[in-house]
Amino acid sequence: MPFYQRLGDVPRKRHIQFRENGTLLTEEVMGLEGFTGNESILYHLQSPCRVMELDGFQPIERKEWVPDQHAHRHFATFDIKPEGDEINGRRLLMWNNDVEISLCRPTTKMDYFFRNGEGDEVVFVHEGGGVVETIFGDVPYKEGDYVVIPRGTTYRFAAEGPQRYLVFETPGLIEIPRRYRNQYGQIMEGAPYYHRDIHPPTELHTVREKGEFPVKVRVRGGYQTYVVDYHPFDVVGWDGFVFPWTFSIHDFEPITGRIHQPPPSHQTFQGQNFVICSFCPRKLDFDPEAVPIPYHHSNLQSEEMIYYVSGNFGSRKGVEVGSITLHPSGLPHGPQPGLAEKAIGLHETHELAVMCDTFNPLKLTRFAKDLDDGVYWQSWYANAESGVDESVDGDASGAGLTSHL
Ligand SMILES: [Fe+2]
Repeated sequence: MPFYQRLGDVPRKRHIQFRENGTLLTEEVMGLEGFTGNESILYHLQSPCRVMELDGFQPIERKEWVPDQHAHRHFATFDIKPEGDEINGRRLLMWNNDVEISLCRPTTKMDYFFRNGEGDEVVFVHEGGGVVETIFGDVPYKEGDYVVIPRGTTYRFAAEGPQRYLVFETPGLIEIPRRYRNQYGQIMEGAPYYHRDIHPPTELHTVREKGEFPVKVRVRGGYQTYVVDYHPFDVVGWDGFVFPWTFSIHDFEPITGRIHQPPPSHQTFQGQNFVICSFCPRKLDFDPEAVPIPYHHSNLQSEEMIYYVSGNFGSRKGVEVGSITLHPSGLPHGPQPGLAEKAIGLHETHELAVMCDTFNPLKLTRFAKDLDDGVYWQSWYANAESGVDESVDGDASGAGLTSHL
């Protein structure tokens, strides 16, 4: 994160004595890229190495589905069964060596703490809200938030009401796109959001409690559970650039133009060989001759996954809230027949969607197979003879228009 934060008490300089009631506190530098990347310094009541018991190691097993045919796909996810908690309820849909994309509708409360020891996480909150309690302090979240949790953060969800998430996990870093920041790290004019839109932890709670606390850590392709004899939120203060934060998709300021703007104008985060973009309600292209929906394009080197969050998708056959379309690499894609013509003269879209473009192919899981409608690939062929898809249904304002494909 390109700005400095501090919560709780820290000594006047780093690496000097810092005591509470005469007891020397344990200083932990949590940093990236050796000792040259971003870091935060935390002051603990206990050594963070103090482990009472080692529980078992559970390797992550992915059930891959290798389809017989390479084709565009549509997964209907809205009705997936709620299950598990915010960690073990994640259902992997697709993945590669750079990113794992899961759905999660948790129903149970976490009775343990979790830390991703080998990756950053982005949890997009489609439905629900609550607080992510973390070692850096409370991170309140609500519908529409991207909750960014850097590796090394010990946390636990305290959710309120029904929840629905789209989850990204990556061995790389989740970053604000480089081109949005100046050489000092400040987000520049022209970027679609600003530092004020980024919400760091609000309040630090130092818990002085003894007992037995399981901490599940994702590491080396599996989950290792440690039992510690003190509450893991034993930090009295911290400062630095590494901490969890939220950014609301509703705070993304869409960039529009006289003619069609390409997907990078919607970029929200950059990852390792992938990007996450937000498609938000906005005015559409205003040149009298503009075609306000995308031109056909070939993802020769990328896979394009779009999650439909809200809006009226009348213009997109079969697509509903919670739908995911996957346009895999090597194939062109674009508007269905008749849609480009129908879109002319429309001036705005009310749609909300999250897109992840990966620059390496994605593998699918058997869970994805269960959600695949199997017919989406035909949607460019339907009504091809007339050239017009009569099912296209956008109102005059463009409210039903799908502005991205
Ligand atoms: Fe596309």
